[in-house]
Parts: sequence; C-alpha cells; structure tokens
Amino acid sequence: MPTESPGSGLRTPRLLVAGLVAVIVVLGLSIVMLSIGRSPAPTIPGQVDALATSHDACVSCHRNTTPGIVQQYGHSTMAAAKVSCRDCHEVKAGYPGAVEHQGTYVLNQPSTARCAQCHANEVAQFQQSRHGLPAYVAVAGSKDLSPTLLAQYQSIPEGQFAPDKSRNVIAEMEGSAITHFACESCHAVGAPAADGTVGQCAKCHIRHEFSLEQVRRPETCNNCHIGPDHPQWEIYVESKHGVAYHTGGDHWHWSAKPGMLTVQDFPAPTCATCHFSSFGNQGTTHDVGDRLTWYLFAPISERRPAWQDNKTRMQGICRECHNMAFVGDFYTRADAATAALNSFIKQSDTIMADLKANNLLTDKPFDEPIDFTHFETWHHYGRTAKFGVWMQGPDYTQWHGAYEVVKGLAELQALAAEKKGHH
Ligand code: HEC
Ligand code: HEC
Ligand code: HEC
Ligand code: HEC
Ligand code: HEC
Ligand code: HEC
Ligand code: HEC
Ligand code: HEC
Repeated sequence: MPTESPGSGLRTPRLLVAGLVAVIVVLGLSIVMLSIGRSPAPTIPGQVDALATSHDACVSCHRNTTPGIVQQYGHSTMAAAKVSCRDCHEVKAGYPGAVEHQGTYVLNQPSTARCAQCHANEVAQFQQSRHGLPAYVAVAGSKDLSPTLLAQYQSIPEGQFAPDKSRNVIAEMEGSAITHFACESCHAVGAPAADGTVGQCAKCHIRHEFSLEQVRRPETCNNCHIGPDHPQWEIYVESKHGVAYHTGGDHWHWSAKPGMLTVQDFPAPTCATCHFSSFGNQGTTHDVGDRLTWYLFAPISERRPAWQDNKTRMQGICRECHNMAFVGDFYTRADAATAALNSFIKQSDTIMADLKANNLLTDKPFDEPIDFTHFETWHHYGRTAKFGVWMQGPDYTQWHGAYEVVKGLAELQALAAEKKGHH
C-alpha cells in the first residue's frame, strides 16, 4: 500500500493555505466581534445595569425566576432614574385586577393609570387619539363600555368617524378562537384595563427596556401597520425616506433627547418623525391624528374636523427638509389623487346599490363572491393607493393599488351584468 498518494505533494501546501485562511478568518472575525462588543462605550445611562447592586426583593427573586425581565429593565433609562418594579406593578389590596403576590399585591399588566403617575401628558394625548378607545371600539363595539368609558369615547372628536362595519361581519364569520390572535391583538392597543383606564403602552414600548431607539424605529409600527389593507410599512420601505433609513439609519441618533430632535439626528424621517416626534416647529405628541387631514382608512375619504390646523402641523415637519413650494405642490397633487380614488370607489358603490335596488343582492353580507370583490376594491386596493400616494410608495399606489381598483371595477361590472342576465 503506497504511503503517499500521487497528489500528496500538492495536498500539504493546500491544507496549509486552507488552514492559514481559516486562522486569518477566525482572527479577523474575533477582532470584529471584540470591537462590536467594546464599542460604543456605555456613555448613556441606559446601557449600564442600574439594578446590578439592587437588594429589592422583586429584583433579587426575579433575577432567578425571570432573568430576562430584570436584565432588560436594568438597562432602561427608567431604572437608571430609580423607577422601580413596584412603581408600575405594586398596588393596594382590592385594586381592580390586583393579584396577591409575595406578601403584596401586583398588576400583571400595569395599566395606563400606573404610567400616568409620571407621564400624564403622554397618557392624555394617547387617549385622545384613535389608538385609544376608537381602536378598541372598531372591533369590540361600544355596547359593553361602562358609562364613564362611553363618555370618554364620545369626547374624542376624531374618534367618532366609523363609516364601515363590514369587517365586524368577517370577525363573526371567523370566530373568536381566531380573532383573539388577529383583530383583537392589533386593536388591543386601545383596550380598557380592569381599573377602567385605557390603552396598552407596551404595544409600542416593548417591555422592559422601554427604549427610545426601539420605539422610534419603523419596525415597531409594522407589528400592525402592514399587510394588504394598511401596508404603511411596505410603502415606507419603498419610499425615498425608507431608502434613506435602510441605507443610512445605522448612523442616526436613535436615543437623542425627546422634544428637541433635528435633521442632525434624523436626516430623513421615520414613521415616528412624521406622526409622533418633535421636529421643526412641532412638539412631541402621542395623538397620532394631530397631523392628518383626511380619514384615509374610510371607503370614501372625508376631511377631519380640524384638518387645516393638522395640515399646518404636518407641513411644519416636512419643511425642515423640503421647501414650501415642494410641500404645497405635493399636498395639492395628493389631495387630487385622493379625490380621484374616492370617485372610483363611488362607482363601485353605485354598482352595488343598483343591484340592491333591483333585489339582486341578498341582505346577508359576504355570502357571494361579488361582496368580496366590492370589499377588497376599497378596503385593500383603494386604501393602499391612497396610503401609497401620501407616503410616497409608487409601486403600492400603482400595481397594488390603483390598478387593482380599476380591475375590481371591471370585475364588479361583469358580475353585475351576469346577475342581471340571469334575472
Ligand atoms: C421570592 C420570589 C419572588 C418575589 C420576592 C417576587 N416575585 Fe414576582 N414572581 C415570582 C414567581 C416564581 C413568579 C411566577 C413566574 C412564572 O410563572 O414563570 C412571579 C410572577 C410575577 C408576575 C407575573 C404574574 C403573572 O401571572 O403573569 C409579576 C408581574 C411579578 N411576579 C411581579 C413582582 C413584583 C413587582 C415583585 C415585588 C413587589 C415580585 N414579583 C416579587 C417570584 C417572586
Ligand atoms: C415602567 C413600568 C414597568 C416597570 C418599572 C416594570 N414593569 Fe413589569 N411589566 C410592565 C408592563 C406594562 C407589563 C405588561 C406588558 C404586557 O401587557 O404585555 C409588565 C409585565 C411583567 C411581567 C409579566 C409578563 C411576563 O412576561 O411574564 C412580569 C413578571 C414583570 N413585568 C416583572 C417585572 C419586574 C420584576 C420588574 C422590575 C425588575 C418590572 N416588571 C418592572 C411594566 C413595568
Ligand atoms: C414613578 C414614575 C414613573 C412611572 C410609574 C413610569 N415612568 Fe416612564 N419614565 C420615568 C422617568 C423619570 C423617565 C425619564 C428617564 C430619563 O430620561 O432619564 C421615564 C422615561 C420613560 C420613557 C422614555 C425612555 C427614554 O429612554 O427616554 C418611556 C418610553 C417611558 N418612560 C414609558 C413608561 C410607561 C409605558 C410606563 C407605564 C407602563 C411608565 N413609563 C411608568 C418615570 C416613570
Ligand atoms: C398594536 C398595534 C399597533 C401598533 C404597534 C401601532 N399602531 Fe397605529 N394604529 C393601530 C390601529 C388599530 C389603528 C386604527 C385605530 C382606529 O382608527 O380605529 C391605528 C391608527 C394609526 C394612525 C391613524 C390615526 C387616525 O387618527 O386615524 C396612525 C397615524 C398610526 N396608527 C401611526 C402609528 C405609528 C407611527 C406607529 C409606530 C410608532 C403605530 N401606529 C403603531 C394599531 C397600531
Ligand atoms: C395587523 C393588525 C390588524 C389586524 C389583524 C386587524 N386590524 Fe383593523 N386596523 C388596523 C390598523 C393599523 C388600522 C388603521 C388603518 C389606517 O388608519 O390607515 C385598522 C383599522 C380598522 C378599522 C377602521 C377604523 C375604525 O375605527 O372604524 C376597523 C373597523 C377595523 N380595523 C376592524 C378590524 C376587524 C374587525 C379586524 C378583524 C377581522 C381587524 N380590524 C384586524 C390593524 C389591524
Ligand atoms: C403607537 C405607538 C406608541 C404607543 C402605543 C405609545 N407610545 Fe410612547 N412613544 C412612541 C414614540 C414613537 C415615541 C418617541 C417620540 C420621539 O421621537 O421623541 C414615544 C415616546 C414616549 C415617551 C418619551 C417622550 C418624551 O418626550 O420624553 C414616553 C414617556 C412615552 N412614550 C410614554 C408612553 C405611554 C405612557 C404610553 C401609553 C399611554 C405610550 N407611550 C404609548 C410611540 C408610542
Ligand atoms: C414623510 C412623513 C411620513 C412618514 C415617514 C410616514 N408617514 Fe404616515 N402619513 C403621512 C402623511 C402626510 C399622511 C396623510 C396625512 C393626511 O391625511 O393629511 C399619512 C398617513 C398615515 C396613516 C393613515 C391615517 C388614515 O387617515 O387612515 C397611517 C396609519 C400612517 N400614516 C402610518 C404610518 C406608518 C406606520 C409609517 C411608517 C411605516 C408612516 N406612516 C410613515 C406622513 C408620513
Ligand atoms: C428629516 C428630513 C425629511 C423630512 C422631515 C421629510 N422629508 Fe421628504 N425627503 C427627504 C429626503 C432626504 C428625500 C430624498 C431626496 C431625494 O430624492 O434626493 C425626500 C424625498 C421626498 C419626496 C420625493 C420622493 C421621490 O420618490 O422622489 C417627497 C415627495 C417627499 N420627500 C415628501 C415629503 C413630505 C410630504 C414630508 C412631510 C410629510 C416629508 N417629505 C418630510 C427628507 C425629508
């Protein structure tokens, strides 16, 4: 048996080279890893473990039971500011929703009443917005609201506009085993708690870091603002603003102090910049309706109650980066596109109304294909086209939007003609 194969003279150097390459790669990688591990230096308070020396019983015990929670909270700016587990969780015996725990009483899901102790403005603004009770009522209806909550709901001027109930029929068809994970998951952002206070802040502020970077990143919103009927995330991704975020966002100042953000912090806007953050002459707000002029989510869009003021506010954001002529022209054209889409959807409504008048439609919603075609024409495509226009997603405006609207109209006409022919 030969001790060496013919190619072995070559094999040794090859192995050597491969070995060397491997060593270099491993060394290179570990240098990269080390530098990632080392920098950035922990300059802001949130990056130090503020609970490292805590002797609080909640912290000590939960470091073993739920180490993830203690680890995350320890790195929050709130922990650094000496806000404790108890500030959010601990309540008196008999508090609505309280459970007895380790010799005291806690809320498993701290309500907005807890946050309001220290963040009264954010809570009040949030509760005046459609992220509050209107989001919940959209799915659950208002019939089970207490008189106090009903009055609170009715006091939200922008919350009363609720033009369409067809989705609630779909929820009924699907059943609560499914909708618990669907409609209710997204719309719980405005759900009331046992103590009667409204909203789930943790839908956006992921516990327990409550990090500004996390909540300012647009991915936070794509938990809900995504999909065929409200693809704001997809539209943002394809917009110039989204391109700037994806190509340069790593260098933006994600943890900059709220209330004084500038173009140095954010050279291009994210969802938060336009809808929440202080920017230009605008202050931070948790009232997401505050800068909107249309009810774009409606089948036929209408103006909002205070739309002129809202427009001034949103344009105040745009004007940090664009000149007034550019912004004014954009709004004029986007208004015209909204009106054009309104008129297409009106045509689809006319086709349906005509069939109904001739007794060619059943009273039951969603029991025949034409109901779905009509619904998708406005609910998926009409809205997508409008969102695409306003947030600069040309492909969503065109091929996932207006094209499908035009196609939907042709299909509706064909289905209607067929029904009339059969008659
Ligand atoms: C001696 C240990 C211990 C102490 C002290 C303690 N906990 Fe707990 N806690 C636990 C254990 C164990 C669980 C159950 C964990 C599980 O189910 O995985 C728990 C669960 C919880 C839950 C979730 C309950 C649920 O059903 O979802 C909350 C909230 C909580 N603790 C908060 C606190 C707070 C706030 C304090 C301080 C006032 C505290 N805990 C003190 C051990 C402790
Ligand atoms: C700023 C308020 C706040 C502070 C401070 C806080 N929590 Fe929470 N915690 C929450 C909220 C809000 C939820 C519920 C989130 C949800 O609805 O999903 C929660 C949920 C929990 C849960 C149950 C959920 C689960 O995943 O098991 C536990 C356990 C818990 N917290 C423990 C702690 C401990 C321990 C501390 C201190 C180290 C702490 N929390 C500090 C707000 C807080
Ligand atoms: C006992 C008072 C107190 C309570 C209760 C409280 N917070 Fe805070 N929170 C603070 C303080 C103080 C800061 C400022 C930390 C800083 O900027 O140094 C803060 C900061 C924050 C921030 C900004 C974080 C940052 O890095 O600037 C968020 C988000 C936040 N809180 C959310 C909540 C939510 C949600 C709740 C309720 C679940 C809550 N807080 C309950 C006192 C509180
Ligand atoms: C947990 C789900 C959820 C998350 C996360 C969420 N939203 Fe919403 N959002 C909703 C729902 C539901 C509505 C519709 C409420 C209604 O009109 O009934 C809504 C409505 C809105 C509106 C329209 C409000 C109006 O007056 O018509 C804006 C703007 C908005 N969200 C922006 C954002 C931004 C920006 C983020 C991320 C920072 C975000 N949302 C995160 C669920 C969510
Ligand atoms: C992925 C998260 C998500 C799911 C799942 C979801 N929605 Fe929504 N819904 C939203 C968002 C976001 C808006 C706001 C769109 C906008 O303003 O552009 C909205 C808007 C609405 C509106 C219009 C606003 C209003 O208050 O009248 C209704 C009604 C509604 N949803 C009902 C439902 C029903 C019923 C289901 C289940 C069949 C459902 N939604 C499932 C996120 C969701
Ligand atoms: C729909 C998403 C969303 C929800 C829900 C939400 N927030 Fe925020 N929050 C944000 C965004 C985005 C910012 C960052 C604004 C900025 O860029 O400065 C923020 C910032 C904050 C800050 C820091 C603001 C400052 O000026 O110091 C606090 C405190 C806060 N939120 C509290 C709350 C509380 C309390 C609730 C529940 C009532 C809540 N948030 C619900 C998105 C949300
Ligand atoms: C460049 C600023 C800008 C950015 C970035 C932006 N939006 Fe918008 N958004 C707008 C404008 C402008 C409108 C339409 C306002 C109007 O009605 O006048 C709008 C409309 C909306 C609506 C529709 C509300 C309705 O009436 O149905 C929602 C929801 C929304 N945006 C969420 C988001 C989310 C989520 C993101 C990020 C994925 C985002 N926006 C990114 C400016 C922006
Ligand atoms: C923080 C800065 C900033 C803000 C705020 C901002 N933009 Fe932009 N915008 C940009 C940048 C950067 C570009 C990319 C410029 C280019 O295309 O060369 C851009 C591009 C655009 C474009 C061109 C899109 C295309 O496809 O060519 C439009 C339209 C636009 N923005 C509208 C708006 C509107 C409307 C607002 C306010 C609701 C706004 N922007 C807010 C920075 C901003």
